[in-house]
Amino acid sequence: MATLNINGKRVAVDADPTTPILWALRDTLGLTGTKFGCGVAACGACTVHIDGQPTRSCVTPMSVADGKRITTIEGIAADPVGKAVQTAWVQHDVAQCGYCQSGQIMSAAGLLKKNKNPSDADIDAAMAGNVCRCGTYQRIRAAIHAAAKSLA
Ligand code: FES
Ligand code: FES
Repeated sequence: MATLNINGKRVAVDADPTTPILWALRDTLGLTGTKFGCGVAACGACTVHIDGQPTRSCVTPMSVADGKRITTIEGIAADPVGKAVQTAWVQHDVAQCGYCQSGQIMSAAGLLKKNKNPSDADIDAAMAGNVCRCGTYQRIRAAIHAAAKSLA
């Protein structure tokens, strides 16, 4: 049993503390916006924030989040930066199949929290671990620039 703080709510999860956060979110709590892609921290589909830091939930045990705040795609719009990113994503029609996009948004929001005006190179570096099989990278970059502008 572990207690997690997810999107501002404390929730008890009846699973071993070594269980990856991804499975607690999806299987126990029904928060299925966070996706399973590779399971080995190689694609970014499972990205959540732990205390604001983009984190691959497929390889992060629940015990790591003890006493910390987890934010998922379901809660990111409560944050002004997250809201700006989601709005820019819609305006730029970024998603194609959509599978990678919650992870992309979480990484983009993490970037803009640290860097209010990222260059193309900053964006490429921060987003390098988020794979999109549909190749939406140009729209992702444009949406991040737009979100940064809207927050300025
Ligand atoms: S599912 Fe976690 S990085 Fe791919
Ligand atoms: S939108 Fe299809 S994998 Fe990225």
